[in-house]
Amino acid sequence: MKQEKILIVGACGQIGVELTLALRKQYSNNQVIASDIREEHELLKGTGPYLTINATDIKAVAETVQKEGITQIYLLAALLSATGEKMPMKAWDINMNSLLQILELGVEQKLHKIYWPSSIAVFGTTTPRQDTPQKTIVEPTTVYGISKYSGELWCQYYQKRWGLDVRSLRYPGLISWKSAPGGGTTDYAVEIYHEALKQQKYTSFLSENTYLPMMYMDDAIRGTIELMEAPIEQIKSRMAYNLSAMSFSPKEIAAAIQQHIPDFTISYAPDFRQQIADSWPQSIDDSAARNDWNWKHEFDLQKMTATMLENLSTHK
Ligand code: SER
Repeated sequence: MKQEKILIVGACGQIGVELTLALRKQYSNNQVIASDIREEHELLKGTGPYLTINATDIKAVAETVQKEGITQIYLLAALLSATGEKMPMKAWDINMNSLLQILELGVEQKLHKIYWPSSIAVFGTTTPRQDTPQKTIVEPTTVYGISKYSGELWCQYYQKRWGLDVRSLRYPGLISWKSAPGGGTTDYAVEIYHEALKQQKYTSFLSENTYLPMMYMDDAIRGTIELMEAPIEQIKSRMAYNLSAMSFSPKEIAAAIQQHIPDFTISYAPDFRQQIADSWPQSIDDSAARNDWNWKHEFDLQKMTATMLENLSTHK
């Protein structure tokens, strides 16, 4: 078999930066080509090849696949839930067209594997909100959620119809100190750590008892690579897997921060993102991922809070 060569599309986003660095460790720097429409992220500079590519420009993606002998694509480019509501048609275009074109390319070019992230945003107000099962009522209410659920169905279709090995996870809100999130409803759980260190106070755009499923980025990256490396017979779901680690509210994350910064205070000014949060699950049942390919999380709220505050204070 050809040596694996990976193309990351959307490498400068919140997941992309850390996933690129982790894959470069797992493989080698030159086996992992990072690309994004944006300028190269500071943390990627000097760690391996970088190309400027627009995710919807399939000609550019196809040329790179051929020229570089790409065997796997990680397609991470997307507009998230809050930005998607401001620009619904643009969100649909970026989220869907990039996926459909890359799935087609995957069949044409006989790619070994494709990774594409889904989200808890596939669920909607009619879904059971506690321990949301892998298979349940799915009626997303945001453009982002609609694009993710449609995308899951397309991934499953390409696997069943063409045998394309596409794998996917429904991430909860992701929390990281290296790369910033952008335009999501769960972003408050990252901003709060920055503001706690800068000004010992934070105004949350979600109300105090809004519970959402969340995960520390190290767990998300490890889970992604474990899913992609798992033997094919362990991948029993070709819809994205539910993936879960913890669940907390703004009030609870504030209390965890106060353990380290006693003067920290939080206030609440819910905006349009509250309605999005209220349509999503509060906690997720990810037993399918745990059973099929041995998923396990390592970070809870306390461990994540200590790690976030320590890293953000030392890497200013
Ligand atoms: N973090 C994403 C968002 O809030 C959910 O997948 O949009």
